Amino acid sequence: LPTHYTLPSGDKIPAVALGVWQAAPGEVGSAVKTALNAGYRHIDGAWIYRNEAEVGQALKESGVPREELWLTSKLWNTFHAPEDIEPALDETLSSLQTDYLDLYLIHWPIAFKKGTSTLDEALTANPYPTWQKLEELVEKGKIRNIGISNFNIQRIENLTANPLKVQPAVNQVELNFWNPQPELLAWSAAHGLRLEAYSPLGSSRQVKDTLAVPAVQAIAKQLGITPAQAIISWHVQRGTIVLPKSVTPSRVVENFQVHALPDDLFEQLEKAAAAHPPQRVVNPSKNWGLDFDVFDDYP
Ligand code: A2P
Repeated sequence: LPTHYTLPSGDKIPAVALGVWQAAPGEVGSAVKTALNAGYRHIDGAWIYRNEAEVGQALKESGVPREELWLTSKLWNTFHAPEDIEPALDETLSSLQTDYLDLYLIHWPIAFKKGTSTLDEALTANPYPTWQKLEELVEKGKIRNIGISNFNIQRIENLTANPLKVQPAVNQVELNFWNPQPELLAWSAAHGLRLEAYSPLGSSRQVKDTLAVPAVQAIAKQLGITPAQAIISWHVQRGTIVLPKSVTPSRVVENFQVHALPDDLFEQLEKAAAAHPPQRVVNPSKNWGLDFDVFDDYP
C-alpha cells in the first residue's frame, strides 16, 4: 500500500495520520508523542478541536524536525470574513509553534457571521472570497496546500467554477463502513481531488459495530491482522488518506500498521459497505440551527 500520495503541488502527504478530533486535553499530547515514536509524521487537527497548543508542545518536545512533519489544520466557520482569515491561521500557527502549515482546509462549506454562530448566507453561498484569501496565504508562504472539508460535489463545483489560482488539493469528508460514499470517491478520483477519511472507524459511536462487521472480522482472521487494521488498510487501498483517532497507546501503534488486502477481500468489504443505506455519524446541521442539511445540494 502507498505510504504517501503526491498532491498537485508535488508535495507528498503521508497516507495515515493521527486524527486529534475529540482527543481530550491532557491526553492529546502523549498520543502525538506515541504516534511520532510509532512512525507517524502526519497530524490532522483543527482550530475548533481546542487542543492545538498541546499538540504543538508535544511536537516541539518530540524533537522531530519540522520538515519531516505534515501538519493539517482547518479554518473555523466563524473566521470566513476576509479580514479574519489570516489572524485565525496565525493563531493556529502560533499554537502549533510553527511558521507554516502543510495543509489548511475550509472546515465546513458553512460560514457564520463574524463572532456569532448564525449563518452568513453570502459567504456560504459563495466560498470564493474565502478561497482567494487562502490563495494569498499560499503565496505568502504560510500554507503549502489548501483544500476543503465536508463539501459535496455541487458545492465543490460551485467553488471550482471560479478562476482558481490554486485548485483544492483534498476534500476531507466522513468515510467509513457505514458511510463509504463510493460515488463521491469515484468522482473525486476522476477530478484529481484526493479524499481524506475522517471518522474512518465510525467514530466513538460506531467503532464497536465497525470492528464487529463480519467482512471485517473475516479479513482480520485470514490475514492475521486486527479488525481496525483491516478497516484502515481498506481506506488506503481505496486511495484515501486516513485519519484514525486514538489516545490509547497500543491502538495508536496498531492503527499505523496497514496491509494490502487481496483483491477479492477488498471487493467483499467494498460491497458489504455499499450494501446498506448510507448512514452518517457526523452531521451538525441541526446543532447549528440550519434550515437545510449541510450535506444536501443547494435548494
Ligand atoms: P480511543 O481514542 O479511546 O482509543 P474514528 O477514528 O473513526 O474517529 O474512531 C475513533 C474511536 O475509535 C475512538 O473512540 C477510539 O478510542 C477508537 N479506536 C481507535 N483505534 C482503535 C482500535 N485500533 N481498536 C479499537 N478502538 C479504536
